[in-house]
Amino acid sequence: APQSAEATLHAEAPAGVYDRHIFTQFAEHLGTGIYGGLWVGKDSPIPNTRGFRNDVVAALKALKVPTVRWPGGCFADEYHWREGIGEQAKRPVKVNTHWGGVTEPNTVGTHEFMDLVEQLGAEPYIAGNVGNGTVREMAEWVEYMTAPAGSLAEERAANGHKAPWAVPYFGVGNELWGCGGNMRPEFAADETRRYATFVKAPSGTRIIKIASGANVDDYGWTEAMMKIAANQVDGLSLHYYTMPGGGWPPRTSATQFNEDGWAETLSEARRMDELITKHSAIMDKYDPKKRVFLAVDEWGTWFTPEPSTNPGFLYQQNTLRDALVAAVHLNLFAKHVDRVKMTAIAQMVNVLQTMILTDGAKMVLTPTYHVFSLYKPWQDATVLPIEVKAPDYKRGAWTMPAISASAVKGKDGHIHVALANLDPNRAMPVSIALGGVKAGKVAGQILTAPAMNTMNTFAAPQTLVPVPFKGASIKGATLSVTMPAKSVVVLDLD
Ligand code: AHR
Repeated sequence: APQSAEATLHAEAPAGVYDRHIFTQFAEHLGTGIYGGLWVGKDSPIPNTRGFRNDVVAALKALKVPTVRWPGGCFADEYHWREGIGEQAKRPVKVNTHWGGVTEPNTVGTHEFMDLVEQLGAEPYIAGNVGNGTVREMAEWVEYMTAPAGSLAEERAANGHKAPWAVPYFGVGNELWGCGGNMRPEFAADETRRYATFVKAPSGTRIIKIASGANVDDYGWTEAMMKIAANQVDGLSLHYYTMPGGGWPPRTSATQFNEDGWAETLSEARRMDELITKHSAIMDKYDPKKRVFLAVDEWGTWFTPEPSTNPGFLYQQNTLRDALVAAVHLNLFAKHVDRVKMTAIAQMVNVLQTMILTDGAKMVLTPTYHVFSLYKPWQDATVLPIEVKAPDYKRGAWTMPAISASAVKGKDGHIHVALANLDPNRAMPVSIALGGVKAGKVAGQILTAPAMNTMNTFAAPQTLVPVPFKGASIKGATLSVTMPAKSVVVLDLD
């Protein structure tokens, strides 16, 4: 079998824009995702700006987070926005029935969340309550946030924000097939039509409405939503988590795994390609012009919680394996930019495949954070198809091409190429035919480590960080890269 990979970059056939909203983050009222991870309160000894911790906000700003989805997740379908406005001390304390049964103080509500996205320079993606909320409640929330005038706008002003907020993205419920109400697809599609009708943007503004989409390979759900509700929405979501060990419920550790666990996880991550392809084919039947986009607004690894943490908090560590999972997804999304205009990894801080872990005043950036950072040039760049022929990486029951790749022409005019070597044992020379691309110089960064489960900890936060990569060169029209085993490399061609 050949021990090297060949690739061709098709710069002459650009494939569309890699929408920056593919890098959307998800922040749910779950575990320490909000309280502790983002919000510490104004009086906290942890340095903060109006309650949001400065270290975490600065790290997320550096990542150029474009959008944040909030307040859930499952939490969204039992969230009542009126409980999260007005004087903080007077807000009702509820039980978070989905996540750990802990109390929810409603301290972070609409005004606080909007302040957070403003601090981040991001846009809000608000998820509305279809599950146990009313159409009127949802309509009034939208009016409260966006109306320039009227009594809800006056109430907003009295609560400290005179100017209306822009709400560019609005989710019409979440997982209506499950925690959002256990609805049948036709019923959910009818409910989506009804609720979406009353999500109204003030004149001169636009709210992009996203319907609650399928769980994994529930193609019947996509069929029903497209057939019945597509004309009332702009996007349809899809949720798929990488969950080795036989699927739900999660039963394998984020950090204690052998090579089988590595191979199975990456193989499960690669399944996203098949899922997008098949859901898109159904969408094509009803929407051949691709007006309705696919929003993969929950993806990422889901392992068992770290020992001695509240199991309802979904707090998991993050290793080099997660970094490869992230790169595989970000590369796959490039292949599907005709339909995929938004995705959101779950979740932003302290939950599932997170960017950032916190412990009191301490903060650590995960390997996944570093992958997102390396891919910043992909935001709103033009995708250049890259065809790769790589030898397979085989382990036990799992076989997959060893190399995953994507390429873009960035807003800086440079060509950026991302490669991941999924094989944890063998380095792989990759030879990329650049066609008509004129480039003389290549610079890059690599994320790799000696062990598959290398991670950053509070004691050693810099264990796994990107470092300059010297293994790439250009000769004529060929880019040659020697990819170390289990690595992610991002190159900048000039
Ligand atoms: O991200 C955790 C949960 O996973 C979300 O609340 C829900 O939408 C999904 O089931």
